[in-house]
Amino acid sequence: DQLPDLVIVGAGLFGLTVAQQAVEKTGARVVMLDVRDHIGGNAYSYFDKETGAEIHKYGAHLFHTSSEVVWKYVNRFTTFTNYVHRVYTTHNGEVFPLPINLGTVNQFFRASYTPAEAKALIDEQAGELAGKDPQNLNDKGISLIGRPLYEAFIKNYTAKQWQTDPTELPASIISRLPVRFNYDSRYFKDTWEGLPTDGYTAWFERMIDDPRIEVKLGVDFFDESQPWNKSALVGRVPVVYTGPIDRYFNYSHGELKWRTVDFVERRYDEGDHFGCPVMNFADSDVPYTRAIEFKNFNPERRAQQNPDKTVVWEEYSRFASREDEPYYPINTESDKSLYETYSELADQEPNVVFGGRLGTYKYYDMHQVIATALASFERTIEPMLAGKE
Ligand code: FAD
Ligand code: NA
Repeated sequence: DQLPDLVIVGAGLFGLTVAQQAVEKTGARVVMLDVRDHIGGNAYSYFDKETGAEIHKYGAHLFHTSSEVVWKYVNRFTTFTNYVHRVYTTHNGEVFPLPINLGTVNQFFRASYTPAEAKALIDEQAGELAGKDPQNLNDKGISLIGRPLYEAFIKNYTAKQWQTDPTELPASIISRLPVRFNYDSRYFKDTWEGLPTDGYTAWFERMIDDPRIEVKLGVDFFDESQPWNKSALVGRVPVVYTGPIDRYFNYSHGELKWRTVDFVERRYDEGDHFGCPVMNFADSDVPYTRAIEFKNFNPERRAQQNPDKTVVWEEYSRFASREDEPYYPINTESDKSLYETYSELADQEPNVVFGGRLGTYKYYDMHQVIATALASFERTIEPMLAGKE
């Protein structure tokens, strides 16, 4: 078997972007592996037969960016709907808009404060712990937005996210809690946002629609019983690796810690269950953090959706073990120094580039992963393909 010019481990957005660039810029022959049975990594989605909903298999994915380079790049492969992300939260039997804005504040305090009045009130309430250096997340939350709003909207939600009481969590987890002193409830502040018109997977397929890119699914890079494995390839062909960096080195210095999310699917015999795509649950009586009603991400597809059925995924957050899908890096000081150790080992790997959220142990949004893949291609991968490095 002849080796290709480049092997990419992982068909997520980092791998897809590198494959697309390698073919376009250098005419390389690329083999891309993924242990899963589909491309797209965590941004993969599929259409649900019963409801017509596009289900984001690894959790809700909203595309947004302020980078013109990234926006132009992604628009080569898909158009975007005019979806604008907004979130609601249920607290104490009432539904409030998020992020906390003047609508939330006035509904919560049964008031009609002006922006200045609301700001004065929150400043006063946030002064409760004035002069004290917050020792945990609970005190930090109170000192940022005051006890009433913190306890209503942040405290129990955070406890569910971390499965830990906020008084036991480090203050460093949050640096700010945004409160908007106007009625703007748009979740993202970016210049562009939207959802891919015919779904995420159609977008990703178009990125690699080229005979020089071969995708091998269900292939684990660490499985030595198949030919596309680490020992057979590293040192013989340039490799871009987007799996977990600690796994690459066989966890020799320990494991990097992640949080994961479990999803519980519910089906309802009604057209619309929540009236919005994302409903958070701020209180501890509901065990999940939020529920996603996928049909409502795509109201422009109503004609193709089932008017009498809907599907909802409830999200439960917890610490990940090695067998779980790693979602959010925990990033304690010890994680950071462990990552540095692995990163130094990675630099010594011959002709291997580590990328993406797992390969660099960073939380990246999709637009950030695309931006880092474009930069990494230009800076490191293209020279490597040209044999200049
Ligand atoms: P991944 O998508 O994780 O791809 C890595 C791939 O490598 C995977 O497919 C994996 O199977 C494969 N792999 C790993 N090990 C091996 C191996 N040994 N052999 C072969 N293949 C292997 N971003 C947004 O912009 N907006 C959002 O709303 C948003 N919501 C998110 C919600 C959740 C719950 C999560 C977890 C992420 C969210 N993101 C969101 C981030 C987005 O998912 C990432 O930015 C993007 O998917 C990262 O791409 P990647 O290629 O780095 O990694
Ligand atoms: Na991801």
